[in-house]
Amino acid sequence: MLLIMAVPGVGLLTRLHLCAQRRTRVQRLIVRLLSCPGTVAEDLRRDEQPSGSVETGFEDKIPRKRFSEMQNERREQAQRTVLIHCPEKISENKFLKYLSQHGPINNHFFYESFGLYAVVEFCRKESVGSLQNGTETPNMAMETAIPFRSRFLSLKLKNQTSKQPCIQSSNQLPPSNRKLFELLCYAESIDDQLNTLLKEFQLTEENTKLRYLTCSLIEDIAAAYFPDCVVRPFGSSVNTFGKLGCDLDMFLDLDETRNLSTHKTSGNYLMEFQVKNVPSERIATQKILSVIGECLDHFGPGCVGVQKILNARCPLVRFSHQASGFQCDLTTNNKIALTSSELLYIYGALDSRVRALVFGIRCWARAHSLTSSIPGAWITNFSLTMMVIFFLQRRSPPILPTLDSLKTLADAEDKCIIEGNNCTFVRDLNRIKPSGNTETLELLLKEFFEYFGNFAFNKNSINIRQGREQNKPDSSPLYIQNPFETSLNISKNVSQSQLQKFVDLAQESAWILQQEDTHQPSVSSNQPWGLAAILLPSVPHRGSLTKKKRKRSANERVKNLLESLKSNRTANFTETNEKRTISTQT
Ligand code: GTP
Ligand code: MG
Repeated sequence: MLLIMAVPGVGLLTRLHLCAQRRTRVQRLIVRLLSCPGTVAEDLRRDEQPSGSVETGFEDKIPRKRFSEMQNERREQAQRTVLIHCPEKISENKFLKYLSQHGPINNHFFYESFGLYAVVEFCRKESVGSLQNGTETPNMAMETAIPFRSRFLSLKLKNQTSKQPCIQSSNQLPPSNRKLFELLCYAESIDDQLNTLLKEFQLTEENTKLRYLTCSLIEDIAAAYFPDCVVRPFGSSVNTFGKLGCDLDMFLDLDETRNLSTHKTSGNYLMEFQVKNVPSERIATQKILSVIGECLDHFGPGCVGVQKILNARCPLVRFSHQASGFQCDLTTNNKIALTSSELLYIYGALDSRVRALVFGIRCWARAHSLTSSIPGAWITNFSLTMMVIFFLQRRSPPILPTLDSLKTLADAEDKCIIEGNNCTFVRDLNRIKPSGNTETLELLLKEFFEYFGNFAFNKNSINIRQGREQNKPDSSPLYIQNPFETSLNISKNVSQSQLQKFVDLAQESAWILQQEDTHQPSVSSNQPWGLAAILLPSVPHRGSLTKKKRKRSANERVKNLLESLKSNRTANFTETNEKRTISTQT
């Protein structure tokens, strides 16, 4: 076998695992009717479930580690990991044996992306160097290879071997709309539906590993200029709200480079690097990203479609990492965004209902085109997450603490000021008291729509720092205070018509869910219910609806949907690659 540095593959292939348990509709409806939390039926249902299934599974997934601890561990793992493009016909055992000559392997997995790829994590970092030392730069007949040494390799077979057993690939994509629809219809309650949605869409362990590995590969490239730099993932890849297919936000952290020079003082002397100066931080950011963008474009194996978007409010380099299929946004000097990710990570970890509700609302918003892959006047997922957090802070008793109360729990180690903004809050999850609130997800979903369907957006702003509405400081239709840069509105881009659409749909969904309380879907009908009913595509927007009109429109929707379901055109409500204009994952 030969290992060659390569630039292969485009996109990820869909691999679906099939629906596990199927109960009859009658069973499902009976269980639904009986399964209120706290009842005997609910207890029985819980006992019936195999361990590790939906309910217990999620609790296991809730992280308890500090964000920084989790990030450091994963980064260190990624540094011991290589990405290898493999031939289709490969023996897994022989492949692992071949690699083991460089040192023991901690774990590995395969995935498909218009070709087979292996992610191999060695136990020791030295093994990667040893493997690279035995790796050649390819010799091409027609083209010239740029001799760039990375941890992205290509395995060639000198002699084709006979048939090999099929390699098990890890799935990197969310379920198809059809499968998701089936799963939701066969769920036993709205709580069950929301948990199912979360289970199907949340980032898998393998997908998370691939995200950290991709950052680590980009870090190696950036290190050509800034040897002490760190490329950290942020946003939904790490804040516990990421869905399979979401983009990979990366932060080029040059703090280490800067700090190193401040510690080395001795006696009366202070040594400084000779550097070039530019008039502002923004210009420095633009120059750094410009050169990294060039480097990715010219030498980055598998980095394609590199766009330097340097005049944006937050300058970035956008590119597609072909082998992983991730759409990547690389920024620098964006530490507050990393801190926001840490805050969301904490909120996501505090109560198992938070993520389930956020995933449900994000899917709902995507299904109704309230969010979009194209920048514009729409609500973003980040804003939606803030709205859910705010709503959960408003429950009685609150399900989530305010940011101010997280600040009061902070100790000296948590103190953090970024660009003059106070970003202090408790980082240790174990110091935050769990909520005494026992409301079901079903109730919370309904109440979320009720709450925002009737929110006084014209005069009030949303503020998770204080957990209460405040007078809007300006006339933006939607005002969600930036939790750290408190004079900024994170939803400044949202237009009045987009906000109105959100309000109308929230009212309509609240109404649909209320109807189900009084009229349970009949056993004989194929009627989508609960979460499935509100995820179905909407009829065209018609401005504010009266109650009567809402009722009619909901009936029309259900009728239209049944028609579309019959003709196998199941609801288009998943969010796969929602941000991919140059994505390779679909
Ligand atoms: P996805 O839609 O799944 O990508 O969610 P996301 O949370 O990753 O959102 P996005 O990729 O748009 O932004 C990445 C991160 O940047 C967010 O998680 C926030 O931490 C931060 N961010 C995004 N938009 C804003 C904003 O308007 N203001 C501030 N302060 N931070 C933002
Ligand atoms: Mg993102």
